[in-house]
Amino acid sequence: METAPLIAMQSVGKTYPMGDLTVHALRGLDLTIARGELVVLLGPSGSGKTTTLNILGGLDRPTGGRVVVEGEEIARFDERRLTAYRRTKVGFVFQFFNLIPTLTALENVEFALSLTGRGSSLIRRSRELLALVSLEDRADHFPSQLSGGEQQRVAIARALANRPALLLCDEPTGNLDVETARQVLQAIRDLNRREGATVILVSHNASIAPMADRVVRLHDGSVAKIESNPHPAPVGELAW
Ligand SMILES: Nc1ncnc2c1ncn2[C@@H]1O[C@H](COP(=O)(O)OP(=O)(O)OP(=O)(O)O)[C@@H](O)[C@H]1O
Ligand SMILES: [Mg+2]
Repeated sequence: METAPLIAMQSVGKTYPMGDLTVHALRGLDLTIARGELVVLLGPSGSGKTTTLNILGGLDRPTGGRVVVEGEEIARFDERRLTAYRRTKVGFVFQFFNLIPTLTALENVEFALSLTGRGSSLIRRSRELLALVSLEDRADHFPSQLSGGEQQRVAIARALANRPALLLCDEPTGNLDVETARQVLQAIRDLNRREGATVILVSHNASIAPMADRVVRLHDGSVAKIESNPHPAPVGELAW
């Protein structure tokens, strides 16, 4: 018996009114993602990658079609359920790390944990999360005292605070040099394998495609092509 997919997007549309015009960000996007997959989402600027992540993460709503996550149609959720969905099911990693500058690495992770309402042993779990991204020795550094790649790894640790089923990463290496980008991609791949998080990784950079279980290419708001990698390449072997 085939297990139900984690995500099923069917004919998803997203339009934005702009004065007299209508911008079509998504036009009938169909995409199914299995639990535990690492999917790389590629496509030219404006093709709908961020819109897709925002809709899956409950930050934005589609204007048409169906978005089913773990059997529930999230587009129908009211605000309260959507907020609960964002907090419990989804972790976000953005291009510009978005850490809180006045909190240390450890405190940034702790803060995210405290929002999930899991009060006990916050510090211990925060340390565990930093260790997962190999930053236990940077716990007391403020963001300004961390390299770009280290900041992004703190952001990944923070995104994992609520043990999300779904980790959504929008150009997480867009601001990093090649070596640092490798470390961040390695951390994402390890977490996908070890914690079982399903990952959708948006990138402009087609050279990361070989690390994916599947590569989805968007064009003009819909899926242009899907390729499967039966043997994903180790991050260390990606050619940049
Ligand atoms: N809030 C908005 N209002 C109007 N149009 C929008 C809005 N957000 C996105 N769009 C338009 O929708 C389209 C898809 O945008 P989206 O941000 O999803 O692209 P993207 O693939 O992430 O691009 P990039 O690679 O540049 O980040 C673009 O044409 C964009 O201009
Ligand atoms: Mg984008």
